[in-house]
Amino acid sequence: MYPVTQMDVYDKGGRLLLAKKSPITPQIINLLERHGILLSEIEIWPPENIRSTQFAQAVSSLDQRIRASRVDHYEQLEDIMVAIIFDSKTKPWGGFVQTISNYSSWLYAHSINVALLSLLVGRELGYSEKRLLELGIGAFLHDVGKILIAKSILDKPGTLDDHEIKVMRQHTEFGAKLLNGFQLPQICLEIAAKHHERMDGSGYPLGLTAAQIVEEVQIVMVADAIDAITAYRPYRSSSLLSEGITILLNKGDKYPHHIISIIHTSLGES
Ligand SMILES: [Fe+2]
Repeated sequence: MYPVTQMDVYDKGGRLLLAKKSPITPQIINLLERHGILLSEIEIWPPENIRSTQFAQAVSSLDQRIRASRVDHYEQLEDIMVAIIFDSKTKPWGGFVQTISNYSSWLYAHSINVALLSLLVGRELGYSEKRLLELGIGAFLHDVGKILIAKSILDKPGTLDDHEIKVMRQHTEFGAKLLNGFQLPQICLEIAAKHHERMDGSGYPLGLTAAQIVEEVQIVMVADAIDAITAYRPYRSSSLLSEGITILLNKGDKYPHHIISIIHTSLGES
């Protein structure tokens, strides 16, 4: 028995997508995703099924792309994601999870994808459970500063002008400031602050170079860039994971090649 919608659901153009009491099947989850709608935006009955269906949708796009069945013990990574998304409600920083979800459905999906990809890499590098969890939390919250960026800039179709780029780039600083004082591991603040740095010094805000960027930040840097290329955005279509990997490998020394290789080896062509 699938859970059902408690409301009519419309696409962004106001057309009816799902009538009230429609069953939430995997096909429907995909349909909603194609329209950039998350189940967290919809009332579902019975409510006890919300957690599993929301999670299924949250990971569904990446699941399809990474063909999770080929990744050993994928459920371990899902367990960590559940801890970050759902069990965090009792943590001082848990409110950020809901806030990201409420502010932008694609940002929420991006945060989950970046966390999953980062966890995959961290596990391949032999990280302990504790280090993995901290990496996952930091990766999930890496773009939290974007909740302070106006929607007109965040969702703008086409390229941003110089002023808008300046505003958008503040999200790293905003993120680190937002996360301060919520009893998070220091690495989470560092990830928020530095995930747009690049190995060759061409990133922002500080223009750091490889030796100044810790491995967790390097992992999120790659996961973020790959998901940004391959995932849905309101303003353009998505690309294949293999295209994302190729694009990063062709960027010279901007990105750490050993981390791109781990994703390439783990997930293969898609
Ligand atoms: Fe970012």
